[in-house]
Parts: sequence; structure tokens; C-alpha cells
Amino acid sequence: MAFPSAWLDELFSKNEIVSVISSYVDLKPKGRKLWACCPLHGEKTPSFSVSPDKQLFYCFGCHAGGTVVQFIMDIERLTYPEAIRFLADRVGMQMPENVNDRELKLAQAHKKRLYEATRAAARYYFECFTDPELGKPGREYAQKRGLTPEIVKRFGLGYAPDRWDGLLNRLTREGFTKKELLDAGLLVHNEQKDSVYDAYRGRMIFPIIGVNGQVLGFGARVLGDEKPKYINTGDTPIYNKRNNLYGLYLHKNEKLSDLIMVEGYMDVIGLYKAGVLNAVASLGTALTQQQARLLKRYVETVYIAYDGDAAGQNATVRGLDILKGEGLEVRVITFPDDLDPDEYVQIYGKSGFDRLKENALSLNEFKVRSMANGLDLNAENDRERYAVRACAFVASLQPIEQERYYKVIASLTGYAVEALEAQGARSGGVVLKDSATGLRRGGVRRRNDSLENARTVLERTLLAACIADRDALETAKSTGAEALLKTEAFRNLFAALCSADSFSLAQYVAERPQEEAETVSALLREEGAVQNAVRTAKDCILRLRAEEGQAVLSDLQRRLAEPELSDAEREQILKKIQAQLKAKK
Ligand code: CTP
Ligand code: MN
Repeated sequence: MAFPSAWLDELFSKNEIVSVISSYVDLKPKGRKLWACCPLHGEKTPSFSVSPDKQLFYCFGCHAGGTVVQFIMDIERLTYPEAIRFLADRVGMQMPENVNDRELKLAQAHKKRLYEATRAAARYYFECFTDPELGKPGREYAQKRGLTPEIVKRFGLGYAPDRWDGLLNRLTREGFTKKELLDAGLLVHNEQKDSVYDAYRGRMIFPIIGVNGQVLGFGARVLGDEKPKYINTGDTPIYNKRNNLYGLYLHKNEKLSDLIMVEGYMDVIGLYKAGVLNAVASLGTALTQQQARLLKRYVETVYIAYDGDAAGQNATVRGLDILKGEGLEVRVITFPDDLDPDEYVQIYGKSGFDRLKENALSLNEFKVRSMANGLDLNAENDRERYAVRACAFVASLQPIEQERYYKVIASLTGYAVEALEAQGARSGGVVLKDSATGLRRGGVRRRNDSLENARTVLERTLLAACIADRDALETAKSTGAEALLKTEAFRNLFAALCSADSFSLAQYVAERPQEEAETVSALLREEGAVQNAVRTAKDCILRLRAEEGQAVLSDLQRRLAEPELSDAEREQILKKIQAQLKAKK
């Protein structure tokens, strides 16, 4: 979403970041920045900073950062265009009407057509479903799965008949072009024959509806056991699965106490039918940060209710930290016997589900328990291994929590709580990386992390120097800094700096996707630290080169240690190592 840049300039200058943020928190000056306790996450000591020079904010605690627009998006839980409108209203500016950017207009018109096409398609699939002849297989399937007419209507379900050109014919007759239908993901292009055909055939149709009620795409399920079970709309100009949650639109104007995250279409629908109305689905993919943010706009508490199978459990663990990272309260519902939520409510009903929900685990208890996944706690070896790991994890938690979880470990292993506490104390709260749970917390970072961090700091400092001083930028350009930047956000920023005559960091950040905006805003860490910009830039470049050389060297050394090398290979690697060592001098 782009607004005319002159209009945005005016908006930014009237919404000076310090004055906007001051109406939410009390900012105290220190150095070149102003500080407060972060209004976006709970804390007792201030790690939230605002730079009046750069017109950016950054929280060293929760890593939220960006322009005044990002701040309003976060604190008011608004989308980008909503936040822009909010700021325009705040200073009494009219929204720009005549956006005279031709390309933008064309893109918007195209998107509008795609929304119309997906809506027409949903209508078509529904009509096929109700058609006495065509819809028979779909209706039989719906009946088998308990999809009542009310549910079909509520979720806009449909049926795609087993034909190659049903939708193609109908929608081209309605005036849509093949290109529009292809772009919306409704048709597939056959390269060899250079022909197009319906993307979904002989399948039950689940429209994916956005929070504003538009049809974004579809999930299509086979009626039998064929593979793949579901075909889903891929990325299109109007749909990106990373940014959406299935079923969320049903709650657009509701006040909810919590939401329940499930994996699939049928889980949302099955729960709904049982009377649990507030489930949304990540649609089988790992939860993304964008989805977590979306949730945060609606609720403070999220229950994860993934399938009871191993895949579901692993996805749960990954999802937890993402939700936690967005400041959501997270609880975990686990299902017995590999059941999924849909299957569970069919057997135990809403009351059964409510009981599970009441007994949902806290984030940390879930982690403590899931560390036992794949281990046999009846076997002494596994029991010990589990206890060592779990104790190390518990020792890294707040003292108050520790007591509770040592008890959990005791109940799972039969070891005495005292012994477990002693074990935990010994580990010093250093958690070993466990591939099953993906846990990596505690006192000591793994070497890889610290290496990566050193790089990031160098890249960030280099960029800070380039922004502070044009000469530093020239130096960086002429010494090939570009090739050294491994962080995408910094690489993009560097390219933008190089190609612009005058550069506004705030303006730049405003136009970047959220994740990039945050990475770039982390530049505020280095603000003020850059004294002699040219020398700093040179120094960073040298050190980045050295890091890179070291990485190449380590890799070569690792290869040299491989057992099955031929003499010739060994010699070649040795030569490369020598060359690297020479270059280091
Ligand atoms: N999924 C997918 N493609 C597949 C399998 C699954 O996109 N081939 C996604 C779908 O969004 C699906 C979710 O992952 O809803 C969960 O998968 P699964 O548990 O296998 O399906 P269910 O939702 O339980 O569907 P059903 O009850 O119809 O079998
Ligand atoms: Mn299922």
C-alpha cells in the first residue's frame, strides 16, 4: 500500500514521533534518545528508546521498532493503512484521494478484479454443491462428515465438480480474463500444451476469507483418500498464507477473551459445530510472526490446540515461542490418542473440550513435558537423560516457577524433588539444545549464535556509520561492502543508501515490511556510538572480511577431517587452506 510521498512527508512532519509516543508513555531524555518502560511489552526497567534525530523507536527488550506508523500499528493494533488514517485524523489531514501513481492504480484495479473473481468462484462452487446432479458427490461427502446446511452456509463451503473447465467456462462467460483467473490461483497453466484448466476438481471447497470479508483463496479437499489431501491457493496478489488465519474473519467485531489455534479447516469447523466458536487455523503451516501479530489484535490469550500426533506436537513447540514473543499469553491443549480437535469434539463434545481447555498447560509446563517426547521413561537411561535436560531447562526459569516444574519432572520420572533441584542447580540453567523441542535458552549461548551475532553487530554498525556520514558510505561502496552484508534487511538498506541522493531513514523504514523495519530500527543501538564514521566503516569492513575468511577456513578444516578423502582431494583442500591463511596476513 503506497501513499503519495509528498503527502506522507507532510503526515510524518506533523506527527513528530516524540509527541505521538509521549501521549502513551512518559519519555525521559538520556543521551541522544528518550527512554521509557516499553508500552508494548511488560517491563520494570526502561528499554524502550525513541530517537528524535532519526524519527524511529526501538525496544531493546522486545525488539519492536520502526517509525511512528509502526508504533501506532503495534499499540493500537491497526494495519498499516489503518495506522496511516489514525495519524492523519490525529492531525486533521485529509486522506489522499487522487493517488496519481499510475502503477499503483493499475495494481489496485487488478487486485479488485481478483477479489471479484474469487468471490464469483466461491459462488460457482456453492451452486455446484447445491446442483441436483453435479453436486451429488460433494453433498454425500458433506453428509458423511456432518457438514450440515447451516455449516455449509456459515463457512461458504462448496464443491468443485470433476471437470477440467467448469470454472473456466463459467467465469470467462462472466467476463473474467484467463490471466485474472490464473493470477487468482483459480486456473493452472499447462506449459507443454500452453493451455489452462481448473485448479480444483472433484473436491470439497473451503473458501479462505480475509478479516474484511473478501474471499482470498481456497482449500480443496479430496473426497477420498487420494493424495494430496488438500490443495490450497498459493501466493497470489491477494493472498499470502503467512498473513492469514482461517476463520478469524468470523470474529471481526467481537470482543473475545481468547482464541484457539488449530491446524486445519475441519478443526475450525468441527469445533464451531460443537459450539466452540472461537477457533482459527494456521492451515497446517508453522505459525508465522505476522499471524501472531494478527492474533494480538484480537486477544491477549491464545490456546494452542494442535493435533495429538508428533507433527502437531512439533508444530506446537515452534508456534509457542512466536506467540510468546508477541507478548501473548500462551496455553497448550493436548489431545489424547493422536486425536485432532475435530475428532475429539465428535467423541467428547463441547464439555469434553472445555475440560481440556481448563486443564491447558502453561507454556513452560508444556515444554517440560514435551522434552520427554520420543524417550521411554520406563527405561532408566532415557529417564536419566530426560531428567538432566528437563532440570537444566527448569533451572533457567524464574525461581517461583521452578518449584512447580521440578514436581512435574518428579512425577514423570519418580526421582525425588530434592535430587532434581540439585541436578538443576548443577546445570547452572544452561539448556542443551534439544532437537525435539527446539529449546535453546539459558545462560550460555551456543557458539554459532554468538558468531552470527558478531556479524550482525558489525553489519549494523557499518550501516550506522554509512548513514551518519556520506564519506563513510563512499568508503564502504568502494571497498565492496555490499558483498559482505549477509542480513537481507541491511543489504537492502545499503542498496537504497547507495542509490539515493538524499535519504530519510524514517521514510525508508515506513515503506519496508515489518520484519525489515525492526531490523533496521535496531540501528538505534549504534546511534551515538559512531564517532569517526569513516574509520568505523573501514574497521567493520575489515572485521567482516576476517569473519568471512574464518568461516571459509573452518569449513575447509572440517572437510579435511572427513574420513573418505582421496589424496588428490586432500591436497586440493590443503592448498585452499594455505591460500586462506596467506590472505589473512
Ligand atoms: N494440509 C494441506 N495439505 C495437505 C495436508 C494438510 O494443506 N496435503 C493442511 C490443511 O490446511 C489441513 C491442515 O493442514 O486442514 C491439517 O492437516 P490434517 O490434520 O492432515 O487434516 P485435517 O484438517 O484433519 O483434515 P481432515 O479432517 O479433512 O482429514
Ligand atoms: Mn481431521
